[in-house]
Amino acid sequence: MPGTNLVTGGTGVLGREVARRLLAPGREVRVLSRRPAPDGSPYAWRTGDLRTGTGIGAAVEGAEVIVHCATTLGGKDVAATRTLIDAARSGMPHLVYVSIVGVDRIPLPYYRAKLAAEEAVVSSGLPWTILRATQFHTLIRLVVDLQRRLPVVFRPAGFRFQPVDPGEVAARLAELALEGAAGRVPDMGGPEVRDFRDLARATLRAANRRRPMIPVPIPGAIGRGYRDGHHLTPNAAGRVTFEQFLGSGS
Ligand SMILES: NC(=O)c1ccc[n+]([C@@H]2O[C@H](COP(=O)([O-])OP(=O)(O)OC[C@H]3O[C@@H](n4cnc5c(N)ncnc54)[C@H](OP(=O)(O)O)[C@@H]3O)[C@@H](O)[C@H]2O)c1
Repeated sequence: MPGTNLVTGGTGVLGREVARRLLAPGREVRVLSRRPAPDGSPYAWRTGDLRTGTGIGAAVEGAEVIVHCATTLGGKDVAATRTLIDAARSGMPHLVYVSIVGVDRIPLPYYRAKLAAEEAVVSSGLPWTILRATQFHTLIRLVVDLQRRLPVVFRPAGFRFQPVDPGEVAARLAELALEGAAGRVPDMGGPEVRDFRDLARATLRAANRRRPMIPVPIPGAIGRGYRDGHHLTPNAAGRVTFEQFLGSGS
């Protein structure tokens, strides 16, 4: 299908996979990034910043679909999403937003910002679709890798995860983007729910490392939310297991 599609965060783990999947003859795929275009990029690159609004008008102009994958820590996602919506409103594009399973049940500050960004999308007046996904395989591996200089791996006690392949989430988002506004669609999770200890062990094994693991109790409503599994979903649509991801060299 021809048209102009914009992927915000098109340089990120998820967004770059979405942009790649949207590429098709006759379709312009724009990538929004704060950085300049790399040499040989197949995309119609747009340099801009959702925090300041610089370059956003030019990025959204004429776009029929916007897949909003950009994210920043520190609670700035709401303002960034509003900036995007305000710039896009006159063109009435289909706005596709990716969120996280449990943003409404676990009071993590990042999740609160995502929930408020979801609400901004719903009340934007634009045709919209929201997909909530579980944690990506890349995030689970990152949490272990960030501790590589330590003699141990700290792990949140009693936490299970249902990691999903970002490529599979991207494929679903690309499909949703082209299908038209669908509102809140069923959540998407990975194929297995596993103890974090187990996932951390698999990560260490794949990197040929051994480390003792130290359980850390996470107190309060945040810890309870994860221990109660509010970030998990019965919709285990992802097929790629964590071990397959680790073995793929991604
Ligand atoms: N990671 C997970 O486990 C997970 C699970 C479920 C849902 N999600 C959601 O999926 C989305 C993508 O996550 P990700 O892990 O792929 O993120 P990521 O790899 O950290 O990428 C973040 C992207 O945001 C862009 N960005 C950051 N600040 C920006 C700004 N001020 N203006 C414009 N662009 C900006 C970055 O682009 P430049 O640096 O090139 O500017 C980058 O492309 C997020 O909404 C996240 O909440 C993630």
